[in-house]
Amino acid sequence: MAIERTLAIIKPDAFGRGLAGEIVSRINKAGFQIVAIKSMHLTRKEAEGFYAVHRERGFFGELTEFMSSGKVVVLALQAEGAILKWRDTMGATDPAKAAPGTIRRDLGTSIGNNCTHGSDAPDTAAFELGYFFAGYELI
Ligand code: CMP
Repeated sequence: MAIERTLAIIKPDAFGRGLAGEIVSRINKAGFQIVAIKSMHLTRKEAEGFYAVHRERGFFGELTEFMSSGKVVVLALQAEGAILKWRDTMGATDPAKAAPGTIRRDLGTSIGNNCTHGSDAPDTAAFELGYFFAGYELI
């Protein structure tokens, strides 16, 4: 399997509940290399730009309000098959449907407050990594 990079976000619900350390620990235990990591507080506009692909969805307003409501941690993760591996580590979008032992099942409280985000394909990973990290931060 090829070495890939993916973009992970620890969302405001998880950061606000003091779960950033627990989630980074799970990232390490799952075998990812953390290429870059930073904490930031997104503006509404920055959240809207990041989730532009969902602009027509009914939950877009709620999603972008939530994502700009508090601090997040953004990470560039590297591993063999990192995109699928991170999605498996997070579990399904809805914590109620996520497999036991996954981050969202163990720590998430609702489909909106699901603790983490991950890129869903190579093209979105490239866009999302470039959205938050400059080239020199990903060396
Ligand atoms: P995420 O992986 O960050 O990608 C888009 C987010 O929209 C998703 O996780 C959910 O947290 C959020 N969301 C809120 N409501 C819904 C919904 N009804 N269906 C899918 N995603 C939703």
